[in-house]
Amino acid sequence: FHFAAPVNEPVYSYAPGSPERVALKKQLAAFKAQEADIPMYIGGKEVRTGKTQELRPPHEIKHKLGQFHTGDATHINDAITAALQARAQWADTPWEQRAGIFLKAAELIATKYRYHLNAATMLGQSKNAYQAEIDSACELIDFLRFNVHYLSEIYNQQPYSPQGIHNRLEYRPLEGFVLAVTPFNFTAIAGNLPTSAALCGNVVVWKPADTQVYAANVIMKVLIEAGLPAGVINLIYTDGPLLGDVAFSHPDFAGIHFTGSTAVFQQMWKTIGTNISKYKTYPRIVGETGGKDFVLAHKSADVDVTAIALARGAFEYQGQKCSAASRAYLPSNIADAVKAKLVAELATMKMGTTEDFSNFINAVIDERSFNKITNYIENAKKDPKAKIIAGGTYSKAEGYFIAPTVIEVTDPHYVTMCEEIFGPVLTIYTYDAEKFEEIIATVDSTSSYALTGSIIAQDRYAIDLATKKLVNSAGNFYINDKPTGAVVGQQPFGGARASGTNDKAGSMLNLYRWLSARTIKETL
Ligand code: ALA
Repeated sequence: FHFAAPVNEPVYSYAPGSPERVALKKQLAAFKAQEADIPMYIGGKEVRTGKTQELRPPHEIKHKLGQFHTGDATHINDAITAALQARAQWADTPWEQRAGIFLKAAELIATKYRYHLNAATMLGQSKNAYQAEIDSACELIDFLRFNVHYLSEIYNQQPYSPQGIHNRLEYRPLEGFVLAVTPFNFTAIAGNLPTSAALCGNVVVWKPADTQVYAANVIMKVLIEAGLPAGVINLIYTDGPLLGDVAFSHPDFAGIHFTGSTAVFQQMWKTIGTNISKYKTYPRIVGETGGKDFVLAHKSADVDVTAIALARGAFEYQGQKCSAASRAYLPSNIADAVKAKLVAELATMKMGTTEDFSNFINAVIDERSFNKITNYIENAKKDPKAKIIAGGTYSKAEGYFIAPTVIEVTDPHYVTMCEEIFGPVLTIYTYDAEKFEEIIATVDSTSSYALTGSIIAQDRYAIDLATKKLVNSAGNFYINDKPTGAVVGQQPFGGARASGTNDKAGSMLNLYRWLSARTIKETL
């Protein structure tokens, strides 16, 4: 059975007056009218512990969306037990049947729950309608469909069998359970991390970020409606370090599928290393862990292309994409023109709630994030080496709003050129336009991350040079484009160095990590 490559899910525009906009607004209003009481899902059962946390839209903190029930070590163990109990049957389920469940889930999102998932992402994570649509609808649908395609490609990869011998590879799931830990910033990643492992026949314990629970709950409901058997994916809300302590000391721990911070991922490796002799099998450790993504413009770059790549790459979703442009290197011949165009562009971007569709900029995710980002801004205001040329203002009276901020620096190693801020802050350094090779070396050595980056140039020699010299500086490298918005099936996504294990999401490279092959030789 071969599942051919699907086409990407078309993106709805939510144009004013369109039936799609009307339907999405209706769903937003419905969610806001009723407080949700969100359970965990363990072994197919809804679990309400009575120990709850509140959910509020980051852009409207006075409004309560609902609450979710949290668990402790008992619930983590219950989730692991439920997963292990489901394992044998799920691993034995014909893969076409497993695939059918995830394809059904994709169909349900595309046709029945698109507005639910988008509205949940808009309210819970403060994404505007377009950013929600490309994430929680299109990218998630694409992950679900393309993973089925890629897995069918893998299953069809078989060794050579000479006359009289039948050789084959049997792609088994891992022997144990997989832990999926997902971040707030992409609903698609939340959906992909547990489902890609489960599609391969694995059972999963899934913990999303507290700030992603509202959308995670919708994903889980869709999976259940699509026919996912009890226990295959168990969704729990609990303390991260506690989860690590319990899950990583379990003998059946077989893998972690993670997106989040470098510090947390490194702590996971350490804990896993400490427990390594306890496990039945060496666990798979797969993580995507942030970036300090660059835009490098050459002296031949088009001014408008550069400015738009920066405006969109740095500020869509408030700069909270791991792929967001956060350090720019502009050549002296066009730097002033690019900055002027960028500042003019930012002036047109309205900031406010996600329910007002004319807003481009919404709130950052929570108070902790707001404080961290505004701290960088305040420090820049005080530093003679830095100058704020756009934004720099913020308020948390109604929600966690930070105006798109551009900092200009005279030192390419200024702190905001080096550290991941994860917010609407772009730092620009202007270099001597005749010193392109030197700046390439600076781009490469400035950050420990290597997730995404762009070269903007019309000169083919400059494009080729940057592409060659920055070979290890970005797992996703863009030429004359912003460094965000990888599309499943088109640009497999991920980076190495401090950005992760580079097991490209939405590709065979990722799915291989959730399979453990057995080689079978039969003499005929
Ligand atoms: N895959 C997301 C992007 O490319 C993170 O922007």
